Amino acid sequence: MSAILYAFPDEREPAHRLADALGVELALVETHVFPDGEILPRVGAASARTIVYRSLDSPNTKLVELLLAADALKRQGAKRIELVAPYLPYMRQDSVFRSGEPVSQQVIANLLDRAFDNIVTVDPHLHRTRSLSDIFHQASTRVLHGADALVPFLRAERFDSRTVVVGPDEESLPWIHQVSDPLGLPGLALTKRRRGDREVEILSPTGFDVSGRPVLLVDDICSTGSTLCAAARLLRSSGATSLTMFVTHALCRDEALQHLNAAGVDRVISADSCAHRTNTVALAPILAKALSGV
Ligand code: R5P
Repeated sequence: MSAILYAFPDEREPAHRLADALGVELALVETHVFPDGEILPRVGAASARTIVYRSLDSPNTKLVELLLAADALKRQGAKRIELVAPYLPYMRQDSVFRSGEPVSQQVIANLLDRAFDNIVTVDPHLHRTRSLSDIFHQASTRVLHGADALVPFLRAERFDSRTVVVGPDEESLPWIHQVSDPLGLPGLALTKRRRGDREVEILSPTGFDVSGRPVLLVDDICSTGSTLCAAARLLRSSGATSLTMFVTHALCRDEALQHLNAAGVDRVISADSCAHRTNTVALAPILAKALSGV
């Protein structure tokens, strides 16, 4: 492929895996931070097709840096500039839930829409918004699924064929089926009632039975860990013999991992969407396939 891939130094490793998979050169954006906190990214030569790898966890800093870098790359000759953002932030605020709030999802989409020609992301949290094309009006978009990287990983690991794939709420049904269907496993969703940022109640549906079976608990995001802790406690008290948890975007701190272990999670694995100690499943193969097809 004739292109150059730019990344930021803190994401050199996943970007390197992607550059290798694409067979393109990897270059790094240098960022200078002024004493007052303003940032100045500097880039080298761009190619007509320039790809930028930037996962947008910690978005309040990363977004400004990314928009500035995109401008610099266009000035350096990029004609088509594409963003690989495995984690797309602010997607959960897709509506005004209480008077006085913004629709953050659309605000962030507008910023990226103006800066990039194509955006590739993984499991964006789209609930009421049907598709990214509903909020991106100029850039083309491509949505990939962490499950497509997880399934080959599980096959290579020789997963237990009695495993039940469980998600914590109805919103997780697509992720459940993306894992359970290709592996020929049963999949089911629990029910969630969120009462606050860290207060979550998880209930089991009628006829729910995981007794005596290993469970793979899947979700898109682990932030405070409250959702998956509550789900883990329910699954353990329902007789699950072992509990492995997979998330595409691991945004949680070590404290949350300790709570997950205490709630009965034996093993936490995540895709390398956001740098995290639980990163196990590389997204580079599916990202490269999506970019090669453009
Ligand atoms: C929300 O609907 C998402 O799918 C996740 O379940 C949620 O973001 C997890 O957040 P937390 O870890 O804070 O419970």
